[in-house]
Amino acid sequence: MRKPIGIFDSGIGGTSIWREIRQLLPHEDMVYLADSKNAPYGTKPKSEIKQMCFANTDFLLRLDCKIIVVACNTATTNAIDALRQTYQVPFVGIEPAIKPAALQTQTKRVGVLATQGTLSSSLFNTTSKKFTQGIQVVEQVGKGLVELIEAGKHDSPEIRALLKRYLEPMLVENIDHLVLGCTHYPYLIPVLEELLPNHIKIIDSGEAVARQTQAILEKTDSLSPQENEGADVFFTTGSKTSLERWVGAGSEIRTITL
Ligand code: DGL
Repeated sequence: MRKPIGIFDSGIGGTSIWREIRQLLPHEDMVYLADSKNAPYGTKPKSEIKQMCFANTDFLLRLDCKIIVVACNTATTNAIDALRQTYQVPFVGIEPAIKPAALQTQTKRVGVLATQGTLSSSLFNTTSKKFTQGIQVVEQVGKGLVELIEAGKHDSPEIRALLKRYLEPMLVENIDHLVLGCTHYPYLIPVLEELLPNHIKIIDSGEAVARQTQAILEKTDSLSPQENEGADVFFTTGSKTSLERWVGAGSEIRTITL
């Protein structure tokens, strides 16, 4: 089906998912929406997060998207049920990859770094309880991280200081897996690798989301028939500069108001 895949996030974080999908599905056209004006979502009440997710979805559907990838853990854990109940189009969401971490841990202790909105959601808490019997989950709100990443300060003294503070309780508890529960955080991996001992495995769900997108498109017979490379168009409600940093200066980026 020659319609684009729609992807949205509260900002530039979901470009980490866009990249995974682009790699797996090179012939698909994609539309990415960064709602950077409203970032961060993670400190907002559920009702507001839902409203913003509806506005994002309406925008992507006006562009005739055949599937919507909610490339934001906070949006998924607070709004995906409401989205699925409201719209006909299929949705793919992203949640912290607590299950693989729980299955692989040797120390029986895993860390989860995510937003307040994700960690307090009932979806996250239900999933976490289901898969972590006998395992201690050290949860940490990444307060301030999304704002710094949006501002291009993903490798700054400020972010290093915050990360050191947030990782400390996890190291004290002897975690051996760190789950990145926010799509902005893969951009912190180089710094995290410097700060964490080598034996701690960092887990994020980007690749799984791309595979799930592919599976749904296959199942619904909606893969793009084109043999050329797919096109990308990026929209932002905020600054073009922060998107450019992660998708390349030559990309088609348009500023919009929702
Ligand atoms: N990328 C979003 C997520 O995965 C960031 C949330 C926020 O804007 O606070 O949760």
